[in-house]
Amino acid sequence: MDNFKGRDVIEIGDFSKDELLFVLKMARKFDPTFTKSDRSNYTIAQGKIAATLFFEPSTRTQQSFSSAAQKIGMGLIGFNDPELTSIYKGESFADTIRIMMAYADVMIIRHPEAGSARKAAEIADIPVINAGDGPNSHPTQTLLDLYTILKVFGKLDNLKIAFVGDPLHYRVFHGQFSALSKFSGNKFYGISPKGLEMPQEFRNEDYEDVVIDMKDLDKTLEKIQPDIVSVGRIPKEYIKGDATKYDFELNLETVKKLPKSSIIMHPLPRVNELDPKIDTDPRAVYFAQARNGLYIREALLALVLGRL
Ligand code: CP
Repeated sequence: MDNFKGRDVIEIGDFSKDELLFVLKMARKFDPTFTKSDRSNYTIAQGKIAATLFFEPSTRTQQSFSSAAQKIGMGLIGFNDPELTSIYKGESFADTIRIMMAYADVMIIRHPEAGSARKAAEIADIPVINAGDGPNSHPTQTLLDLYTILKVFGKLDNLKIAFVGDPLHYRVFHGQFSALSKFSGNKFYGISPKGLEMPQEFRNEDYEDVVIDMKDLDKTLEKIQPDIVSVGRIPKEYIKGDATKYDFELNLETVKKLPKSSIIMHPLPRVNELDPKIDTDPRAVYFAQARNGLYIREALLALVLGRL
């Protein structure tokens, strides 16, 4: 597939099913599960520079992009605190993008405002990768989620997926739903307290609201018997008023009746919705999921630079 060179990665919906599958296939090249020696990857993007522009905090996305860039031979510039740049002196977003693009070959941007990555891509003449733009989109998270599912189940179709938490605001659920809807036979359940149901614009006939008192999460999961339990924190930053009323917890009791072959996913960071006691359950894949982000990001950087 030759249409990745120079491409921006802004929304998961911008990619066809075949393009998604192609990125997932390329990520295997960087994954020690499939590629025993990755020596030949060290120089793939030698001489190229990645710029990470993080206008809001991140652990996984920023560090895995930094690691991915260096693993394929790239140099790295950027910031994770805009107050330590000339934005502090009043420099505009647009000028910041113009300046950073002069020093780099690819730009990775996280910003609290929806649409900011698209805005950066309109200004920059180098590929821009959206590393999360507020409530809107986090396409590399969706890609690593798909990669995790594919690695476990060997397929992305005919799966039962339960979103647990806040389908109204949580961009991770929107991304997973949008991408997995491209594959046939998937059935989606949005398990949430009343008031946090999936927005109308994201729905299709395969999506079902399961509005519950979250104290009944164990019985609800037992009834649905999902293949994938996709959990997310309640994003308090997007909820007006007291968000603690929506708090819930997935714990040893809640997961007891889940199918043995199911998996529990979470993009992390977790707050209080995942009891650490379930971390050792073989169905809990969230740390492996975070690690998969490295392979996806190595592949994506190499692809947009035309080096794969
Ligand atoms: N999952 C994720 O995006 O984590 P960070 O906010 O730490 O990057």
